[in-house]
Amino acid sequence: MSNIVMTAAAGGNLRGEIQIPGDKSISHRAVMLGSLAEGITEIRGFLQGEDPVATLQAFRAMGVRIDGPEEGCLVVHGVGLHGLKQPPQPLYLGNSGTSMRLLSGLLAAQPFDTVLTGDDSLSGRPMRRITEPLSAMGARIGTSEAGTPPLSIEGGRRLEGIDYPMPVASAQVKSCLLLAGLYAEGRTCVVEPDPSRDHTERMLQGFGYVVERDNNTVCLQGGGTLKAAPVEVPGDISSAAFFMVGAAISEASDVLLQNVGVNPTRTGIITILRQMGADIALENEREAGAEPVADIRVRGSRLQGIAIPEHLVPLAIDEFPALFVAAACAEGETVLTGARELRVKESDRIQVMADGLTKLGIEALPTEDGIVIQGGQMTGGAVDSRGDHRIAMAFAMAGLRSSSPVLVHDCANVKTSFPDFIESAWRLGMTIKETAW
Ligand code: S3P
Repeated sequence: MSNIVMTAAAGGNLRGEIQIPGDKSISHRAVMLGSLAEGITEIRGFLQGEDPVATLQAFRAMGVRIDGPEEGCLVVHGVGLHGLKQPPQPLYLGNSGTSMRLLSGLLAAQPFDTVLTGDDSLSGRPMRRITEPLSAMGARIGTSEAGTPPLSIEGGRRLEGIDYPMPVASAQVKSCLLLAGLYAEGRTCVVEPDPSRDHTERMLQGFGYVVERDNNTVCLQGGGTLKAAPVEVPGDISSAAFFMVGAAISEASDVLLQNVGVNPTRTGIITILRQMGADIALENEREAGAEPVADIRVRGSRLQGIAIPEHLVPLAIDEFPALFVAAACAEGETVLTGARELRVKESDRIQVMADGLTKLGIEALPTEDGIVIQGGQMTGGAVDSRGDHRIAMAFAMAGLRSSSPVLVHDCANVKTSFPDFIESAWRLGMTIKETAW
């Protein structure tokens, strides 16, 4: 694969309005539940990024007819919970941890065997967090010795519901177990140490499935059915995050990010940036299907370093690369703790961000479960995203406050979540280009 390099000019600001592309988490779930439902599900606003497309291809390979995507519209001809067919070959899921972890739950309950594979990054990510509780339900799943993909999932197993206290807050683990729970005998309950994104629960309910929540415990009873329902996918706050930070760090910026999902289990970035002194307003707040949506206005302001409250970590889990760039532009010190999970995302986001910020002249000290960043003047220079889409886009924003251009290497995976990132940045007035080396 060629090295895609993004080069962001030094300085500037962001002004104007853009539509934010569809939410990645909700796009995955819409294809999954639409495929398992009875009837035809129309999805609008589907993210045509490589990750959700990997999920879509997996269901096509299991015999589900899916028309589109055409301008974000998909028509999924549901086959019901028991209508999937054995795929002719291993399912390749690219860079997508969500595809692999969620699919494992429902494939563990199918009558046929499956093998799940991924790219180098996904092949190094921990899967015991799902294989252990799934085994406790009666599943049989093989991994590498290190507990990483490929996953070999044995079919024909009878699953039983469990009560599972999750050791770390993870929507992927929770969703995996709830999907397995649809097929299990009895009740499946997952207890979260802190709230994580709840799109699976909301969408299951939208498809007519009863999901009970009591404080931090979410339960469902196996053996029901899913009824097709239209899904409107809101814009992804995790994609909006780059421009929220870009606008917040640059003087005279004023952007309106339209139609963004503001589910309270996703808005940690807004809370954290506001605590740092950012000027963020939610306009035109409304509901889109099962999810709250708003237009987000962000104006440039002076940011202060803060100690990020640990309970906000799962609510902003994908936004830390962008938030670290905000911290580099803030006055004083920003301290993050309780975020060990960042080390096992698409890259080790603590180390890779610390390396890049250091290259840009910022004092960034990685710790076991977080980072300490001293705000300062970024110099510009070359950084490596290590193939991590969110790190690539976060460093592109750093150009706005650097004294010379920022070159970001290894950016091909921006296509997994935000294929039109460069065009969106142009529309907001950024001077940024993409080249293949
Ligand atoms: C996701 C959950 C999060 C997040 C990932 C998408 C999801 O992972 O980092 O990008 O769609 O459920 P964890 O739940 O494992 O933290």
